[in-house]
Amino acid sequence: MTEPVSVLTQRYDVPDAHTLAGYERTGGYQSLALAFDQAPTDLVQQVKDAGLRGRGGAGFPTGVKWGFTPRGAGKPTYLVVNADEGEPGTFKDRELMERDPHQLLEGIVVACHALESERAFIYLRGEYLWPGIRLEHAIAEAYEAGYLGKDIKGSGINVDVTLHYAAGAYICGEETALLDSLEGRRGQPRLRPPFPAQAGVYGMPTQVNNVETIANVPHIVQHGVEWYRTMGTEKSPGPKLFCVSGEVNRPGNYEWPLGATAREIVEVSCQGMLDGRTLRFWTPGGSSTPLLTGDHADTPMDFDAIAEAGSLLGTAAMQMFSDRTSVVEAARNWTKFYEHESCGKCTPCREGTFWLSQIYDRLLEGRGRREDLDLLDEICDNIFGRSFCALGDGAVSPIKSSLAHFREEYEHLVEHGRLPEGIESHTDAVDHNSGHGRPEQLVGT
Ligand SMILES: Cc1cc2nc3c(=O)[nH]c(=O)nc-3n(C[C@H](O)[C@H](O)[C@H](O)COP(=O)(O)O)c2cc1C
Ligand code: SF4
Repeated sequence: MTEPVSVLTQRYDVPDAHTLAGYERTGGYQSLALAFDQAPTDLVQQVKDAGLRGRGGAGFPTGVKWGFTPRGAGKPTYLVVNADEGEPGTFKDRELMERDPHQLLEGIVVACHALESERAFIYLRGEYLWPGIRLEHAIAEAYEAGYLGKDIKGSGINVDVTLHYAAGAYICGEETALLDSLEGRRGQPRLRPPFPAQAGVYGMPTQVNNVETIANVPHIVQHGVEWYRTMGTEKSPGPKLFCVSGEVNRPGNYEWPLGATAREIVEVSCQGMLDGRTLRFWTPGGSSTPLLTGDHADTPMDFDAIAEAGSLLGTAAMQMFSDRTSVVEAARNWTKFYEHESCGKCTPCREGTFWLSQIYDRLLEGRGRREDLDLLDEICDNIFGRSFCALGDGAVSPIKSSLAHFREEYEHLVEHGRLPEGIESHTDAVDHNSGHGRPEQLVGT
């Protein structure tokens, strides 16, 4: 039986943890001296040895990625903290920034030293006003106390932090679209290569890391690789924030070691499903990750085990749905989101998400055709692997996986024009106006 841990969330119950006084009193900023005593490349090696994997979705090893940063090229290097947090069901970074902003700042200073960077940007989701206010105060306090700025605590190390408020587009969480947006351009993905590590902000070497990834770093430096690896699995070590929402008794962010199961997290932290409902389907890592079923509840929540089960750990946003909920309606809801958030740069995603959305409307309005199921499948195949960025792949995840696991619900809709007995409709909650302003008469053609 795995137990919850308290590393990233250790100050969540300290009322003044967001202030410098509260943070310092509870052991904050102690990793800096240890980090400054090390050569930057040794710090990179330490993060590599710890096995920290990116918490932004892809799970790429952070130390390996940091190792791609060119050194001594005579150019400035930048760190960009991705705080855009747009993946449906994901709300872990928000709480990290609201409740413990100095933890992130401490991680930024250590990471900048490792990368030999003197400037970090925090690219913050536009709607995150409260985390922004907390961060602004924390940044001001950290400058005042000499944890940011020139010659940090007499070390000769300089780090400046710029907080950038974004405008709330999901695509701007994709790291290259983020870079364009940060530079003041329309946020659309860039062609790779060159990768940001070679040419990122203003064409300079840049590391883009998720908030939670950076928040892990001071703990690795302060407590060491061996301690870090006591949590999680061999290939997915460390603590992880799981964002649980949906039909559970106590939704929220819960910290467990990687490798805990969905059943453990839901039973122990969320006090089970609502009203004794049975888990029918769920996302292990946000809506861009293929749906799993109730039969997968005992799969360890680590990058490899979830991949073996046919999905992705993504952002560890667990959206839990019961036997009373329609998977077709849920898939339509997500499809509307992707249709709305598609940046329009490439045809498969721009056009495909529009057509998928029309088919879902048809199915759920009782006008579904038998061939619609194959058509959904075919459009997904034309998007997956053929789009310019990973948003396209993510958009088809709920559709392909729901067709694979719950085809009978789709078939029932086509045959009877309504949802099966026992499944409640939440259609009114769905936003039907999220298209790109195309004429209504296209519907059903
Ligand atoms: C459509 C899309 C949206 C994304 N949104 C976010 C986001 O909001 N936050 C984030 O950290 N990563 C997001 N990512 C992943 C980033 O591109 C990138 O992989 C990540 O910031 C790298 O950080 P990490 O190595 O610490 O995980 C998104 C990717 C895609 C394709
Ligand atoms: S896949 Fe979608 S979001 Fe990504 S570039 Fe193409 S249109 Fe834009």
